[in-house]
Amino acid sequence: MIELKNGVFGLHGEGFSCLLRINKYGLLELLHFGEALSTEDGEAFLCRPGIGWGSSVLMDENDAGSCADAMPLAWSGSGRGDFRESPLEFGGISTDFRCSHSKIINGPVLMKSGIPQAKGDCDTLEMVFTEANAELRLYFTVFRDAIVRRAVLGNTGKENIVLKKFMSSMLDIHGDFEMSTFDGGWIAEMRKHTAPVSENRIVSESTTGASSNRHNPGFIISEPDAAEDSGRVYGFNLIYSGNHYASAQKSLQGFVRIMQGISPSEFSKELAPGEIFETPEAVMTFSDKGFSGTSEKMHRFVTENIIPEHWRNRPRPILYNDWEGCMFDFNEAKLLNLAKEAKKLGCELFVLDDGWFGKRDSDKAGLGDYSINKRKLPNGISGLAKKINAMGMEFGLWFEPESVNEDSDLYRAHPDWILRDEFPPLKGRNQFLLDLTKPEVRDYIVENVSAVLDSAKITYVKWDMNRHSTALGAKAHDYILGLYDILRRIFEPRPEILLESCSSGGNRFDLGMLCFGPQIWCSDDTDPIERLTIQGNLSYLYPQSAFGAHVSAAPHAQTLRNTPLCTRGNVSFFGCLGYELDLRHLPGIEKKQIAEQIAFYKNYREVFQFGKFRRLKNGWQVSDGKTTLAAVFRKLVHAAPGYETLRIKDLDKTAIYNMKTYEQKLRIGQFGSLVKHVAPVDLDPNGFVLRIADRHITLPDGKQEIRASGAAFSAGIMLLPLFRGTGYDQNQRTLTDFGSELYIIEEEGK
Ligand code: DGJ
Repeated sequence: MIELKNGVFGLHGEGFSCLLRINKYGLLELLHFGEALSTEDGEAFLCRPGIGWGSSVLMDENDAGSCADAMPLAWSGSGRGDFRESPLEFGGISTDFRCSHSKIINGPVLMKSGIPQAKGDCDTLEMVFTEANAELRLYFTVFRDAIVRRAVLGNTGKENIVLKKFMSSMLDIHGDFEMSTFDGGWIAEMRKHTAPVSENRIVSESTTGASSNRHNPGFIISEPDAAEDSGRVYGFNLIYSGNHYASAQKSLQGFVRIMQGISPSEFSKELAPGEIFETPEAVMTFSDKGFSGTSEKMHRFVTENIIPEHWRNRPRPILYNDWEGCMFDFNEAKLLNLAKEAKKLGCELFVLDDGWFGKRDSDKAGLGDYSINKRKLPNGISGLAKKINAMGMEFGLWFEPESVNEDSDLYRAHPDWILRDEFPPLKGRNQFLLDLTKPEVRDYIVENVSAVLDSAKITYVKWDMNRHSTALGAKAHDYILGLYDILRRIFEPRPEILLESCSSGGNRFDLGMLCFGPQIWCSDDTDPIERLTIQGNLSYLYPQSAFGAHVSAAPHAQTLRNTPLCTRGNVSFFGCLGYELDLRHLPGIEKKQIAEQIAFYKNYREVFQFGKFRRLKNGWQVSDGKTTLAAVFRKLVHAAPGYETLRIKDLDKTAIYNMKTYEQKLRIGQFGSLVKHVAPVDLDPNGFVLRIADRHITLPDGKQEIRASGAAFSAGIMLLPLFRGTGYDQNQRTLTDFGSELYIIEEEGK
């Protein structure tokens, strides 16, 4: 809801308000962003200038309060006395925008450039600022869970304007804060770093052409005493997939200036008279219920206002992907074999990953081509898809349409289609990027991908992109606009296709991509212990239904860690479950265990995918209000570990709940030479008998049942003890390093 009262604009969402006013100098002041307040409260936040600040440059020499540098603003410029970071730079030319008028609009204001936008129930405040040769429009769109804002610059003069920097959002909020960013690289996405916001600027920026695995566009600003379930926490994100920028810096007056937008690094955009430039939408939200409160808002915002409508709360299929099991080495018979196994285990969708086209037998050739590799797939994609469908599974396919290998028919025919400057082009993973700013390149991709999609019953697409872009500035932005145009043309007419985007894993995990497809492959690192970090940190800003989460082989390809299958499953359950390993060589007991995992997940799929997600001290929980599923994860254990409790959140304290352990199995091999102490005969721990036993015999891990009140579960019930070196017992949890347990807590009634 947006209202204007006594000169104060009140922007009100659920549990938060943003109060703004235009001051007498025509500048946009931020009176308050935080707790829900009434618009009338705006007056309480006015800054009294007193005798003013030393070293001030004043807009009116007779008014100590006219120093822009000391004002809490929601937009500013350069060269007019505000020496803090400016959201808008023309390159050596001052900007002096003053508000001329504003209006409140019911609903969103649609963009013209094709950048995706948040959708759904909303109101928009449009504010128009002018100066001699340009007009600036700021849009604040209020949704239930977040405010989304952007800026549009129009050249109203007679000369060209060169835009050097143009942010989507700028905010000055008062107080002491910390900034948490999510950083990393390939197979190491989303490492959380938290630093106090001081007078030194903190910057989180990507310059790789993508939102990147180096610095996710989402970040958090929190008060130092904020905790998981208490305290003031702001969440920010950007609906954009290209180079981005975010910064936070404190001023002498105690205001923290927060900036969000397209990265200004090498950015330059020339606007001819009459032209406009639109920034992407920046998202901001607030909760006084700690990090979990902000995450909850962000989750609901993504689910209700970002992902395509068709996929909102629509259960996602359990998929099998052949990549980690086969890589490029497959043929139809092998795939059908895997599909048969996957079907037997309960998978619902078979995904053929890289390698099905052109001369794609390694990552050195074939990208750009769409002719089917007939040596591997003599019956084509349609023949394979039909056979998979006949088994009762859906069929999905991998594409990497934005790139081209030098060794490809496409490159031989159109070497001029690659993204290049005047220097010899550079390769990444043996490939060039296609120049998506060229309409003929976009048409080629749209026509070829569409033709493949229409040639068979393909219900899922994995859209991959595996190299950084060396395009700079406006070209990098135009590339992303080209990508959005392609995605829109392919997927809008086919809304029922489940699009999972991917970029070497999580190199483009952003709200822009989520506007086209509801899930993203979080990382090529499927090691479950690494995924605790990756998925756990993604959960600050994105709902678990947005994560592709697969069980893969152990020892793991990226870490060589040998993690029990239970934990591999338990981690992947908290996302869109898939399996990505060679099923042909799994021992029977592992197949059985996978079949049990899939059956279990199917039973609780909606809770896992769409339930309310909470981070616990020792794990995660999801809940739909009636059923709560909570997992406890361990990393390294120490000898004689102490007792451990499990605290469940959000339960009705007066209701009764029944908790039971999800049954897990222990492998005999886990006990190594200890087995000989209990076996009637002397066994060689490395011998044939034990190896065979390990493939066929399992022991049940400890199972626990508790009936108690919601209050007791909230206080923290006592879990079974962990293995303490005194032997196996069914009343203990024997899975040790990297072990985990999952508990089902159902409401019984009051
Ligand atoms: C990178 C992706 O992240 C992987 O999952 C896989 O699809 C490969 N590309 C295929 O080349």
